[in-house]
Amino acid sequence: MTSYTTPENAVSLIQSNQRVFIHGSAATPTTLLFALAARKNELRNVELVAISTFGPMPLVEPDCKESFFMNSLFVSENVRAAVNSDQGGYVPIFLSEIGHLFRKNILKIDVALIHVSEPDIHGYCSLGTSIDIAKPAVDTARIIIAQVNKQMPRTHGDGHIHFSKFAAATYVDEPLFEVNYGKKITETERQIGHHIANLIEDRATIQMGIGAIPDAVLDSLHTHKDLGIHTEMFSDGILGLMKSGAVTNAYKKKHPGKVVSSFTVGSAALYKEIHDNPEYSFHEAAYVNDTAVIRKNPKVVSINSCLEMDLTGQVCADSIGSYHYSGVGGQMDFMRGASLSDGGKPIMAMTACTKKGTSKIVPYLRQGAGVVTTRAHLQYVVTEFGVANLYGKNLRQRAHELMRISHPSHHEELEKAIMERFGSFVYPFR
Ligand code: COA
Repeated sequence: MTSYTTPENAVSLIQSNQRVFIHGSAATPTTLLFALAARKNELRNVELVAISTFGPMPLVEPDCKESFFMNSLFVSENVRAAVNSDQGGYVPIFLSEIGHLFRKNILKIDVALIHVSEPDIHGYCSLGTSIDIAKPAVDTARIIIAQVNKQMPRTHGDGHIHFSKFAAATYVDEPLFEVNYGKKITETERQIGHHIANLIEDRATIQMGIGAIPDAVLDSLHTHKDLGIHTEMFSDGILGLMKSGAVTNAYKKKHPGKVVSSFTVGSAALYKEIHDNPEYSFHEAAYVNDTAVIRKNPKVVSINSCLEMDLTGQVCADSIGSYHYSGVGGQMDFMRGASLSDGGKPIMAMTACTKKGTSKIVPYLRQGAGVVTTRAHLQYVVTEFGVANLYGKNLRQRAHELMRISHPSHHEELEKAIMERFGSFVYPFR
């Protein structure tokens, strides 16, 4: 028996000093969040945990300071200011391990606020677009409060939960948040996309990270054959590849014939495509991002991006100096998983400079910068100026390789830094 209540009634179950999980990305339960924010004067010290959340985030308004604390496992735009203030904190953690934090009671979840599809004829709702860490959250939370949405797609895989598990549920009929990474693609991203496409062989299994570069890469893959997708997340870029036949998933060893992911964000067309579509299989991140699972697929190509890289190949992807900008996410899970896979290639791709002309390749990481991918894990680096393969190269060779693919307007300062650090000695061996 499905029975719904108002959002206000639903969130009245939450008490001070509890830890509350918030479902993420396109599944951010905004109606419940506004109802919870309205209780700011009666609640104290409610800890919020989430990865990426979309849309307005009323719980981090300055007047919520005593009531809510955003203890973020990934930093998205709508919580960035709070996380960088005393209204929040940032937990550096591999996406693959967040579920363990919940399951092992290291971060015990009292309440899970989730956003799900309508129940099917058996009473099961789908966690829809985000199974990632929502699955371990609902498996462990003492209280589950659901925002049931007629427009949330029912996805295949592991993300199903019976309506009877909900302590309270409220009903909405509204579109999901949309993101268009494709609109950020410029000629620079296209050049990067072409370089990466040349590294990808037919029958490779692809993972892509966040931003415009992954979609630009996918745009360059239409003549490839029998590609597979096993990724933490995807967006609209793969729809065209599925339709053109470049992606068949036929040669994957894990879940052949299916796109495997832990979450998705994109357009309304994407949400429509994945609805009740067995070609897409969604699972929790502890499984999708497990290096033991990733490595089973052939020729895994992992494409991720970063904010800054030093001349030895240390990668900062979660902060700009000490300012928390993003998160560890699944970058390392997949960079390592790709290296372990037979014929795999971990790739770090970025524009050589920011829009303001700051070089992303630098002599030393900025003070406070967080290393997400270590230089021992890094192999291929791609900018619009080419490809550097750092694997097996010493620090001096790496520095020269990275300078080669940096923006020409920064060559002089990078060359000077190399001379200061490594001298004028040129490594004579091939
Ligand atoms: N110094 C100062 N500012 C910098 C900078 C630098 N070295 N590098 C980037 N920035 C700024 C940009 O100017 C831009 O600012 P804007 O939003 O005001 O335009 C912003 O930071 C984002 O940079 P951009 O190059 O557009 O990033 P992106 O959208 O391609 O995303 C990451 C790059 C690193 C943030 C993203 O890939 C990420 O979050 N990675 C970590 C998690 C991860 O890899 N997960 C993988 C699986 S999903």
